[in-house]
Amino acid sequence: MSSNDKSTKPVKSTGLHVGEIKPGVAKKDPILIADGVRRQFGGLTAVDVEHVEIPRNAITALIGPNGAGKTTFFNLLTGFDTPNEGSWSFNGKSLAGVSAYKVARMGLIRTFQLTKALGLLTVMDNMKLGSTEQVGERLRASIFPFLWKKKDEEIEAQALELLTRFKLDAKKDDYAASLSGGQRKLLEMARALMTRPELVMLDEPMAGVNPALTESLLDHILNLKKEGMTVLFVEHDMHMVRHIADWVIVMAEGKVVAEGDPYEVMKNPAVIDAYLGSHQDLDLGTVTGRITLPTQGKEK
Ligand SMILES: Nc1ncnc2c1ncn2[C@@H]1O[C@H](COP(=O)(O)OP(=O)(O)OP(=O)(O)O)[C@@H](O)[C@H]1O
Ligand SMILES: [Mg+2]
Repeated sequence: MSSNDKSTKPVKSTGLHVGEIKPGVAKKDPILIADGVRRQFGGLTAVDVEHVEIPRNAITALIGPNGAGKTTFFNLLTGFDTPNEGSWSFNGKSLAGVSAYKVARMGLIRTFQLTKALGLLTVMDNMKLGSTEQVGERLRASIFPFLWKKKDEEIEAQALELLTRFKLDAKKDDYAASLSGGQRKLLEMARALMTRPELVMLDEPMAGVNPALTESLLDHILNLKKEGMTVLFVEHDMHMVRHIADWVIVMAEGKVVAEGDPYEVMKNPAVIDAYLGSHQDLDLGTVTGRITLPTQGKEK
């Protein structure tokens, strides 16, 4: 397999914000808006987001040091945790108090930093569980097989199509436990797409993924945007962030401390201070051994 020459240069979306760029800057077409979202664990304030907007049909990276509150913020936005205060809306609809399951049905889906594939189920069964359209699960309908049989076949066909796209179709009858870490990440992403989401939130999609799979994972993320979806992802690999993100939001100590175009944001002293610290000269992509980019020489 040839490597670098194959990766196409992503088409970046621009003109996403309105007015002066600062933390909390308004977006032209926000898909998600959060206001005053705070989450405390005992004496620790893990998330303290004054205002943030996520631009529609773009790829936004959420970066920040370990413990900045990125995963907690994901949990709050997707109904897996409840904030002490704050409001947030998706497509103009408030999500406060909406359960994770309903949030997924509304078109907002997330993956986990530590993959949640169920090892003792097959790859196909994991995919089917991702669907929010399982009529058979509803009691009344389950008594009448003709109501769910056709739907079940449709779900299986959709699952197979996605597995083929993610090159996991040959493994459909294997237990998820037999997959490599990277394949499990791919399965999680494929499963997330079963709900035909509008906004896909990925928590460290590249962590633990073998370099051989990173390129296809990057392409999959870029394809989501091409298909009209919005992506918000957490990532520590700055190469990947620069390569695919249209917009970057920086969190530190629970707060949004900077936002902007990836190249501009990484020059921001507040970001270097909060995130890159003394490692600013390090090539984080090389450190993690993940990717070599065709644009590398131009990044100075
Ligand atoms: N359930 C919990 N109970 C207590 N403290 C928690 C809990 N979840 C998170 N925290 C704390 O909240 C802070 C933010 O954690 P979080 O996992 O959101 O950070 P993160 O930005 O995702 O970090 P990383 O990059 O390491 O994944 C940390 O100090 C963490 O220890
Ligand atoms: Mg995290």
